[in-house]
Amino acid sequence: MLRTHTCGELRPAHINQTVTLAGWVQTIRNIGKVLWLDLRDRYGITQIVAEEGKTSDAIFAQMRSLGREFVVQVTGKVVERYSKNPELPTGDIEIAVEQFEILNASKTPPFKIQDDTDGGDDLRMEYRYLDLRRNIVRKNLELRHAVNRATRQYLDGLGFIDVETPVLIKSTPEGARDFVVPSRMNKGEFYALPQSPQTFKQILMVAGFDRYYQIVKCFRDEDLRADRQPEFTQIDCEMSFITQEDILNTFEGLVKFLFKEVKDVEIPTLPRMTYADAMRLYGSDKPDTRFDMQFVELKGQDRDLTSGKNFVVFDSAELVVGICAKGCSEYTRKQMDELTDWLKRPQIGAKGLIYVRYGQDGSLKSSVDKFYNEEDLKKWAEAMGAEKGDLMLIISGEAGKARKQLNELRLEMGTRLGLRDKNKFSCLWVVDFPMLEYSEDDNRWYAMHHPFTAPKPEDAHYLDTQEFGKIRANAYDMVINGVEVGGGSIRIFQRGLQEKALSVLGFSPEEAKSQFGFLMDAFEFGTPPHGGIAFGFDRLCSLFGGADSIRDFIAFPKNNAGRDMMIKSPSTIAQAQLDELGLKVNLK
Ligand code: AMO
Repeated sequence: MLRTHTCGELRPAHINQTVTLAGWVQTIRNIGKVLWLDLRDRYGITQIVAEEGKTSDAIFAQMRSLGREFVVQVTGKVVERYSKNPELPTGDIEIAVEQFEILNASKTPPFKIQDDTDGGDDLRMEYRYLDLRRNIVRKNLELRHAVNRATRQYLDGLGFIDVETPVLIKSTPEGARDFVVPSRMNKGEFYALPQSPQTFKQILMVAGFDRYYQIVKCFRDEDLRADRQPEFTQIDCEMSFITQEDILNTFEGLVKFLFKEVKDVEIPTLPRMTYADAMRLYGSDKPDTRFDMQFVELKGQDRDLTSGKNFVVFDSAELVVGICAKGCSEYTRKQMDELTDWLKRPQIGAKGLIYVRYGQDGSLKSSVDKFYNEEDLKKWAEAMGAEKGDLMLIISGEAGKARKQLNELRLEMGTRLGLRDKNKFSCLWVVDFPMLEYSEDDNRWYAMHHPFTAPKPEDAHYLDTQEFGKIRANAYDMVINGVEVGGGSIRIFQRGLQEKALSVLGFSPEEAKSQFGFLMDAFEFGTPPHGGIAFGFDRLCSLFGGADSIRDFIAFPKNNAGRDMMIKSPSTIAQAQLDELGLKVNLK
C-alpha cells in the first residue's frame, strides 16, 4: 500500500508514530515560515504541517508549488496540534512532514470541491468525477450502498432468491415509451430495454421459484422530473401462494427494517387508505400525510352548502371543495392574489380561488361576500373545522380537476407553513386501485397499474357486464411523504382472464398472442397464484437522504434532457454502424 493509514483515521493515540498518508490536496495555507496542507481522501481530512527550519528546504519548496487536487504522498510524525479543530475527527493531531512526493498534478478544478460548491448542475455533471469527490455526494452514494445491503439482508433472510433477467427484451406497451435497440443479426428488428422485469418475474413464479427479488435497472423513455430518470433502479419482488395481505406485511417489514438499519427510525404500522379515500381527502393517490389539511366538500355527494345564492361559479360546479390553512387569516390581499396567480399557471390551470378569512376577532370575510352572508360562511367554517385565525381556501369545478388543483394548493400551503419536514416520515399503503382507467383523449381504457393486475374477485363480474370503471384491483402503492416509492399487485394467473383483460385494453386476440403469448402459454402449465411489488430504489434513497431529486443518489445520472454530460450521450453513430444495422436516420 502507498499509505499506512487513511486521512480519517489518526487520533491522539497515534501521536509520535511515523505514518504515511496519500490523498488529494484540499487546501493550502502558507503563513510565512509555516505551511499547512489539508489532505483529503474518502475517509476524511488530515492536516499536514511543514515549517521552515524543521522541514527540508526542498520539501518546503515542493509543497509551496502545490495546487488544489494534486495527489500527494506524505510521510511524517503524528504530533499534537497547537490549535485543535473540534469540527474534524482528526482535529487533535497533525502530521509533521518528513518525506513528500507529488504522485500526480491536477489542473485547477472548474468548481470548488466542497459541500457548498459554486459549480452549476451541468458543469458538475460534465466533471462528475470531481463532483463525486465532494463529501456530500459521496455520502449519498454510501447511503445508497447501505440501503442496498440492508435490502439484500432482509430479503435473503426470508428466502428470496436474486435472479437476473434479460436487458434485451421485446417491446411491449406497458405504460411508458420503450427504449429500443436495433438488432444487427436480425435487420429491421428491435429489442426493447425492460421498463421492468414484470413478465419475467411472473414466469419465475410459474417455474416454481416461489420468492424472487432483484435490484435491477429499468428503462423508460418518459419526460423527466426530479423523481424520474430514464434509467432507474427497482427493488423488484414476486411471491407465490400468497394473498395481498402477505405481500403488504412482508414489504411493510422491509421498509421498517430499512428505516431502522439506515436511519435508526422506528416506523409505526402503516395505515391503509383506499384509493377512493385518498382522492376524496387529498385529491391524490400519493397523499403527503405528514400534515392534515384534508379536503372538505362544501358541495359534493353528501352535502350542498353553496347552491342557490346566485353565485354561478359554485352553482354550476360539480364539486366545491376546500382546505383550512391554520393560522393564515392574516394573509394579505397581495398574498392572496399571488397565490391565485400561482394556481392559474398553465401547469395547474385553476380558474380561480375563493377564500374566507376567519379573523382573530371572530369575523368571517370572504372573496364572495356579495353572495354569501356571515351565516353561510359560518356553516362552511363549521364543516371545515375552521377556527379563529384560520384561512379557508376553496376551489370549484369538474370534480377530477378541482381535486387535482386543490392537491397542488394543499402541498404548496404545507410547504409554506413548514409542515413538510424532511426528517419526519409518514408512510402509508394506498389500496384498492381501480383496475382500469378511461382516457377521454384516446377514447379507450388503460390499465391503471399494468395489464397483468388481477381484479378483486368480488368485482370481476363487472368485466362481463362491461362496467369497467367499477372494477377494483388487488393493487397497492406504498407512499412516503407524498412520494410513490413502490407499487404492485396480485396477478392474473389464468389464461382466460388474462385474455379478457387484454381484450378490454384493446388488444386483438392476435396482438395479445404476439405480445404476451409466452406468458399465457405458461399459465396453462400449472401456474401458482402469485403477486409482487417493486420499489423505486433511487426514490427510497433520496427520501432517506432528505433530498428532492433522485439524481443526487445516482453516480452517473442524466440531466433533464436525458443527457449524460460527461460521456456526451446520446450521440450520433457512424454511417458504417447505421449500414450494418440497416438503419437510415430521418430527422424530419
Ligand atoms: P411501477 O411502474 O409502479 O411498477 O414502478 C415501481 C416503482 O418504481 C419507481 N419508478 C421510478 N423511479 C425513478 N424513475 C422513474 N422513471 C420511475 N418509474 C417508476 C416508483 C414506482 O413506484 N412491474 C411493476 C411492479 C409490480 O407490479 O410488481 C412496476 O414496474 O417508485
